[in-house]
Order: sequence, then C-alpha cells, then structure tokens
Amino acid sequence: MSLSLATSLTVNAALSLAAAKLNSADGAMEARLLLQEVLGVNRAWLIAHANDALQANRDAEFQALLARRLAGEPIAYITAYREFYGLNLRVSPATLIPRADSETLVEAALEKLASRTKETPRVLDLGTGSGAIALAIAQHRPKALVCAVDASAPALAIAQENAARLNLGHVQFILSDWYASLANQRFDIIVSNPPYIAENDSHLSQGDLRFEPMSALASGPDGLDDIRSIIQQGLFHLMPQGWLMLEHGYQQAAAVRDLMANAGMVDVVTKQDLAGNDRVTLGKNPLIVSQHWD
Ligand SMILES: C[S@@+](CC[C@H](N)C(=O)[O-])C[C@H]1O[C@@H](n2cnc3c(N)ncnc32)[C@H](O)[C@@H]1O
Repeated sequence: MSLSLATSLTVNAALSLAAAKLNSADGAMEARLLLQEVLGVNRAWLIAHANDALQANRDAEFQALLARRLAGEPIAYITAYREFYGLNLRVSPATLIPRADSETLVEAALEKLASRTKETPRVLDLGTGSGAIALAIAQHRPKALVCAVDASAPALAIAQENAARLNLGHVQFILSDWYASLANQRFDIIVSNPPYIAENDSHLSQGDLRFEPMSALASGPDGLDDIRSIIQQGLFHLMPQGWLMLEHGYQQAAAVRDLMANAGMVDVVTKQDLAGNDRVTLGKNPLIVSQHWD
C-alpha cells in the first residue's frame, strides 16, 4: 500500500472502530465483510495485512458503506452477495435475502429426491427470488430437471444471472403467477418459500425486512394467502406420489398441515429448522398411478 496516501489507521484498527460503531453481535463480522468489499480481498488477506496502513480513499469508501449499514441497510444488499447452502448468490433489493432457515427446505427436498429411483426427477421451485433453493437443489442433483418461477421479472433476472455464474444454466426460469404459466405440467417435488408474514405484522417495519420487497414477504391478514393458493392447486401439478414442501412461519405449521390434509395430501409432516422451530411442512400426492387427466 502507498504510505503517502495512508491514514494513521491500520486495517485492524479500522475494523475495531467499525465493529464498535456497529455495536451488535455480528458487528465484527459485518465490519470485515464491508472492508473486504471495499478492498476486493478475502478474509485471509485481512488477517495477513492486519497491520498495514489503510489508504485514506479506501477508508472513506469504508466509512460510506458503514454509514449505510448503520442506517439499517442489510449487509447483503450492500455487498450484493449472500452465501446459501455453499453457493455465493447475487442478491438485490428485488430479491429476498436467502435465509439459513430455508436450508431446511433444501435438505427435505434432497432427502426425498435421494429416495426416488427416477434418474431425472422434475423439481419446481415456486417463488424462486435469487434462485437460492432451485440452484442449491440443482447443484446437488445435477440430473434433476429443475424449473423455477417467480412473478417478479427483476428477481428472475438475478436468479438467471446466478444460474449462469454458477454453471447451473440448465435450470429453467419462468415468469409466472404461481402455477399460472405451467399449464398441465407435473413435478416429482414442488418446493416453495412463499411470502408468509401477516400483512399487519410489526416485524415488516423492522430490521432487514424494511428493505426487502413487500411482495416477497407479506401474504394477507394471516400470512397464509399464498400458501393456500399453492396448496389448493398442488395436486394438479404433482406426479403420483410427488411431494409438496412449504416453508412457513414457526407458528403456522398446524394451519399448513390442515390445509394440506384438507386438499387431499397424505403423509403430512412438519420438519424443524436448526433452531428447533417448525419450519417446513410436507404433503404427498396419494395417487399411485396417473389419472385420466395426465
Ligand atoms: C419469501 S420470497 C422467497 C425467495 C427465495 N425462494 C428464497 O427462499 O430466498 C418469496 C418469493 O415469491 C415471489 N412471489 C410472490 N408472489 C408470487 C406469485 N404470485 N407467483 C410467483 N412468485 C411470487 C416473490 O417475488 C419472492 O421472490
């Protein structure tokens, strides 16, 4: 680094000051991510160069990103990336920021896919956002025919960009209001992390949620409007013995199980996330063979 343009701050001192300003459990990690973003380096570089002086112009850029974070903007929107199930995904304010909770849904899908004998199972991800769930499944089941839909064209553009960058270009992306553009298509597995927050929930005006698209978050008075639509039409799009798997709020599991059972699905069961909260409910198409409408 050029000493002539250097501040008196070392990399380490700049990080400590920033972490103190952020003053949260994740403050130190966030400070690191912001400085990595400014310098275009990884964490190993920051450790190796901890005592280097920080150039004044770089410190100014760092302070600008820090100010955005202090104003509440999610770190993933500032750096434009978020890691999900081992994939580095581009995100933007048009997409939800993928959550670790949704890895429970990926694992449930991979588990069911592992027990199916079909070499090229058909998988549908409804409301794909950045493509997180579809791409994680495609990465681990390269022969699966993965289709991902979203009603947001800007979100789909980000998902397609992620697929291309991650060499998962075989995933098909469709602009659709849930199943509307899928005509009579049927799938072995349908996964979805739909909007499921009640529209008057105070969390919508707090934290990261303030910056995320409302169309990705809120769903009617009880948060279940989209889940109802997806379940009601589910059996028309599931292969015999196919599974519908939905992420939901931790207090919505009983309601989602009832909706699936009332729609005629069987073996309905809820899985917990890593924190032990009810997070994903699965229901199966009871048909053993295709009916006449196939
Ligand atoms: C909670 S986000 C999930 C995004 C992504 N699957 C993830 O887990 O990070 C819900 C997604 O559903 C999409 N969505 C909302 N309403 C939709 C509809 N009627 N049809 C298709 N997609 C919809 C939103 O645009 C958003 O991308």
